[in-house]
Amino acid sequence: MTAAPLVLGIETSCDETGVALVRAHADRSELLADVVASSMDEHARFGGIIPEIASRAHLEAMIPTIERALATAGVGLADVDAIAVTAGPGLVGPLTVGASAAKALALGLGKPLFGVNHVIGHAAVDELVDGLFPERLMALVVSGGHSSLLLVDDVVTGVTELGSTLDDAAGEAFDKVGRLLGLPYPGGPHIDRLAREGDPTAIRFPRGLTAAKDQEKHAYDFSFSGLKTAVARWVEARTDVGQPIPLNDVAASFAAAVADVLTAKTIAACRRHDVRTLVIGGGFSANSQLRELAAIRCAEAGIALRIPPIRFCTDNGAMIAALGAAVVRRGLAPSSLDLPVDSSMPLETVRV
Ligand code: KG4
Ligand code: ZN
Repeated sequence: MTAAPLVLGIETSCDETGVALVRAHADRSELLADVVASSMDEHARFGGIIPEIASRAHLEAMIPTIERALATAGVGLADVDAIAVTAGPGLVGPLTVGASAAKALALGLGKPLFGVNHVIGHAAVDELVDGLFPERLMALVVSGGHSSLLLVDDVVTGVTELGSTLDDAAGEAFDKVGRLLGLPYPGGPHIDRLAREGDPTAIRFPRGLTAAKDQEKHAYDFSFSGLKTAVARWVEARTDVGQPIPLNDVAASFAAAVADVLTAKTIAACRRHDVRTLVIGGGFSANSQLRELAAIRCAEAGIALRIPPIRFCTDNGAMIAALGAAVVRRGLAPSSLDLPVDSSMPLETVRV
């Protein structure tokens, strides 16, 4: 491979077709292009992602998105040195479309193929923004599908899952509360906006898995379904007696509970494992209440906080190209051309 291999990354685990080009220098990863086509508008009226619609959208968007990424970077397919693709976790149909495209390219170009983990990509993308990772860091990956706390000794070979959500993911909880408050799908950004106008101390909502009895088994796990139910009960009780719902205060108090639990457990894990750097990634890291509280608590604890810009937090090709670049930089063997996709790929499996 050349001195600074060019990695093409393909992401199709959910509703975004992402294609990016990253150059893997020895001491940094350089983003040359990052193009995303989303089918979200086609799902909004169903109130959730319809896998079949997403698969077809990926199929239609794949070639034009690859062409746009190449044109943006000013390179041709012949310049690509390696292909990275999301192997899981995600929706099987959408994953299969991306993997098929990546295999066809790898076979046609005679270049190595690397199947990588989507969730780890949400952390790895930060290497494009804030530089290559230090030796040891904590990663909190929060999205509509995951809430995971990962101890990262090496982003390719040393990821340990410390905890994850036992029920709803953080974004999913926001979307469900959004629905019960009558907000459009996905509700997350709407709750964020309302919460900025409300009083986060107006209602004391429960903090899941933070009781003393939970510390032994679930110190770093999350649970948001009890919180969601508490919001539903509170809203029902007010509605029953004909009182208006103070949407801003409900949103602010709910968002505060989620941000409190996520940051408290993450900082506790950093302290326990003597980690000085925290990366937060995934679509939910766009959440302002989480960003604000994480900044405050990290500063208090002397932890360097790295959160990539929002366009890198939602699903994109750059995260997969960045993780692919990390694999290539370590000189590891490629995946087999018949690599399977895995909808529930374990988080400690960074590459296939
Ligand atoms: O990573 P992502 O784009 O897709 C998944 O892989 O799930 O994350 C989308 C999730 C949705 O649940 C969305 O409502 C939530 O992230 N989200 C937010 C905000 N922006 C996106 N939730 C709260 N506040 C936000 N600002
Ligand atoms: Zn994601």
